[in-house]
Amino acid sequence: MEGSDIWEELKMKYTAFAAVSAVALSVAGMAQAEPQAEVLHWWTSGGEAKSVAVLQEEFAENGGTWTDMPVAGGGGDAAMTALRARVLAGNAPTAVQLKGPAIQEWYEEGVLADISSVAEAQGWADVLPASIANHMKCEGTWCAAPVNVHRVDWIWANAEVLEANGIEMPTTWEEFNAAAETLQAAGITPLAHGGQAWQDATVFETVVLGLGGPEFFQSALVDLDTEALTSDTMKAVFDQMRTLRGYVDDNFSGRDWNLATAMVMNGEAAFQIMGDWAKGEFLAAGKVPGEDFLCASTPGDGFLYNVDSFAMFEVDGDDKRAGQELLAELIVGQNFQKVFNLNKGSIPARTDVSLDEFDSCAVTSSEDMAASSESGSLLPSYAHGMALRGAQAGAITDVVTAHFNSDMSSDEAVQMLADAVANSM
Ligand code: BGC
Repeated sequence: MEGSDIWEELKMKYTAFAAVSAVALSVAGMAQAEPQAEVLHWWTSGGEAKSVAVLQEEFAENGGTWTDMPVAGGGGDAAMTALRARVLAGNAPTAVQLKGPAIQEWYEEGVLADISSVAEAQGWADVLPASIANHMKCEGTWCAAPVNVHRVDWIWANAEVLEANGIEMPTTWEEFNAAAETLQAAGITPLAHGGQAWQDATVFETVVLGLGGPEFFQSALVDLDTEALTSDTMKAVFDQMRTLRGYVDDNFSGRDWNLATAMVMNGEAAFQIMGDWAKGEFLAAGKVPGEDFLCASTPGDGFLYNVDSFAMFEVDGDDKRAGQELLAELIVGQNFQKVFNLNKGSIPARTDVSLDEFDSCAVTSSEDMAASSESGSLLPSYAHGMALRGAQAGAITDVVTAHFNSDMSSDEAVQMLADAVANSM
């Protein structure tokens, strides 16, 4: 062997040794490091706070120190603004409530940590449905941990108010409108609504699904097909939005979603169209499904899913990395998935958690999700960031809100919708 070859060989051995020692050192360091996590989330309502407390407690029981960074504002718009500011300042939080394509958008910025080691050790691929697992992956690595499955297309109702007015849960939009007219004549606000863009979008997407059907939803709000966006069906959707606008009270502007839920709880309003985090509010207030309040999917076929998840951001420090690993492990743990979702109103993301202790709305959700998955009508919620990238979703929501808060015609709305989507590409 020539002198230079020996030198090369030695260098390789030394480099390999150094790499092994570095890993060993870092593992040893991590083992000693006390897990730390600063967690950015938007769970600030009564039901949400009770739910996130479950994670905080489990984290503390396992030696972790949790720094809470709650950002009020349903739907997470304010939280995402806060996140952007922190990342731009070079000071990302350790763990962030993040979901849908936003996960991959942040991954492309090169700021997400890889949590594959936890996912592989815990066998996430075996316990999560493929549709959910796909949202948690970035170019083959695991980059987020799923918490639950929220269903968006729900109507919540005050049982007593419906009974007193001889009204059944509506199964078509005509029935909904007829019930609303009866209620309005009786002096009850038919629809509890908070006039915030994301809440308008939530109602809008349930109407798109209900009047257009699953295939139309896919073409319009997932594939952004121009023909679907400007179709007569979409005009009918905006007509129904205009009708719904007539069923909300005068003070709806800017109202938080949980205050709208409270209006249904106290009988001031009859219905709310909202995802099943609303059930978390009813439950936190001690209300019983089937007795105090009723749940039914919004009229039409299909299931709009909204999966909450946490992504870990690249941070320095063994304590923070240990915190990220512990969080990821707890989040997908069987116990957390049960207890958290019993409070949150959603169902577990894992398929192997028993629903024995869950209420009838959760059981319906799980059965409908399985049936929709079979029939191809399991669809990602656009309003909750599961279907589209931020720019496209934002463009649609701007039009939906502008229409809801003005006297814009349905013809104008569809044209504006197609233009906004085209400009956002
Ligand atoms: C989230 C829910 C949350 C709701 C209201 C949704 O986008 O997925 O977890 O409860 O917004 O803030």
